[in-house]
Amino acid sequence: MTTRILMVCLGNICRSPMAAAVLDNRAREAGIDVLVSSAGTASWHAGEGPNHMSFRVWTDAGYEYQHVAQQFKQMMFDEFDLILVMDQSNFTNVNALARNHEDVAKIRYLRSFDPNLKVDQIDPSAGALLEVPDPWEQPREEFEEVLKMIEQSVDGLLAFLVHGD
Ligand code: 4NP
Repeated sequence: MTTRILMVCLGNICRSPMAAAVLDNRAREAGIDVLVSSAGTASWHAGEGPNHMSFRVWTDAGYEYQHVAQQFKQMMFDEFDLILVMDQSNFTNVNALARNHEDVAKIRYLRSFDPNLKVDQIDPSAGALLEVPDPWEQPREEFEEVLKMIEQSVDGLLAFLVHGD
């Protein structure tokens, strides 16, 4: 069965498309059946392509992925099985649109799947520890750092999809 996964950040031009690129490529290589997309809680960049630095960093790392930005909408709770956010503000904004417990249960921090972190999302300080920081208008090194966090988390996510928790 296909697992439908939505990556969410603020602008949907830097972090969440990079996360979608990594998951899409690695799942295909591993033969794991996922449908991947991404969205931003803000509408500012809807219809635009990815941020140039983000695109360059994921392309240089060998990931092939095309992206057009879109805003997160409530109906996406019906269209996806997992909604994976990058930071605390995404977590708050997506939770604010949840209609019921089922919607809430789909929301997780992407980095909660990083096996090296072992942070319980229920812990009140978990949000700060589980963030993929916003690299927008930062130097390339910040995007490289974000890519590393995403790759570790995606590997943990793929293991979760195959073996469960
Ligand atoms: P993202 O980064 O949420 O990772 O796509 C940002 C992109 C744009 C803006 C902020 C963050 N912005 O303020 O336009």
